[in-house]
Amino acid sequence: MRIGVLTGGGDCPGLNAVIRAVVRKGAGIYGHEFVGFRDGWRGPLEGTTMPLGIPDVRGILPRGGTILGSSRTNPFKEERGVERVTENLHRLGVDALVAIGGEDTLGVATKLAERGVHVVGVPKTIDNDLNATDYTFGFDTAVNIAMEAIDRLHTTAESHHRALIVEVMGRHAGWIALHAGMASGANVILIPEQPFSVERVCAYVESRFQAHYAPIIVVAEGATPSGSGEAVLEKGLDAFGHARLGGIGEWLAAEIEKNTGKEARTTVLGHIQRGGTPTAFDRMLATRFGLHAIDAASENDWGKMVALRGTDIVRVPLADATTELKLVKPELYAEAEVFFG
Ligand code: F6P
Repeated sequence: MRIGVLTGGGDCPGLNAVIRAVVRKGAGIYGHEFVGFRDGWRGPLEGTTMPLGIPDVRGILPRGGTILGSSRTNPFKEERGVERVTENLHRLGVDALVAIGGEDTLGVATKLAERGVHVVGVPKTIDNDLNATDYTFGFDTAVNIAMEAIDRLHTTAESHHRALIVEVMGRHAGWIALHAGMASGANVILIPEQPFSVERVCAYVESRFQAHYAPIIVVAEGATPSGSGEAVLEKGLDAFGHARLGGIGEWLAAEIEKNTGKEARTTVLGHIQRGGTPTAFDRMLATRFGLHAIDAASENDWGKMVALRGTDIVRVPLADATTELKLVKPELYAEAEVFFG
């Protein structure tokens, strides 16, 4: 079989580990041929490819990013998008696709699978908000990067008696904020699932100063104050209609200064959370996803996504992965709240 591989959406540590595992087992054990599609769905849409044989995946296991490139291209938003994808697959002699991506990339894969394209999905996002899998690779790396940053901010916050706010990624789900905040002893964690009261946050800040510690507030980019969306600076929409977020950290710092009289500063971690080498956990998970994805393709088990359930890798219908997001449950957030203030 000739199989195309693509990586779409925001990049994420571990993408190269998946590509390597797919090609090593696919070419080495099953005897498939591979073609790399450039920049997510833009590759099949425009017919842009790169060679993807065993020599091309040597040495990429620890490398961040994706050797294939990525984009947020949505063929369903392009003129004759779906026809162009299927024509290019036919022209290039590609029998099947392994699509590695998050909610949007796999949403396209789901719709193409419904139209008869042979596709297997691999879940990816640092946000960890994809349903049907316990974890996505890239999340553990992002959490460790954020945790290390917060550990460092603790010491400078203490020295200057400042409130420090750390804005992390997570537009719909607060998994990174929750895990990094709990792992680093943050004093307040604010997530999109739980609109927050500014008064309450200021009270936590004051009580922390009274205890002679400087507060650290971890806020997910998609968190909002109760009763208002005004803290979110929308910087346009991407091809899937998602707002580009940013600004909640700065907004909150101004509110804290105004209400408590204490100096407050914000650090926005941004794309640092997605860059660089994956952790051992992410390398292992990404590698196992790649191995199981190529097994599914070799068994002609189309329209499926590989997923982690406990310690097992299973196959689930692609549609199950993309119908709803996996959000932080109130009970789990309540565990973190024990340490607030
Ligand atoms: O979906 C992953 C993610 O990193 C989100 O956490 C974040 O909101 C978004 O991508 C940022 O995307 P971009 O790099 O395109 O601005």
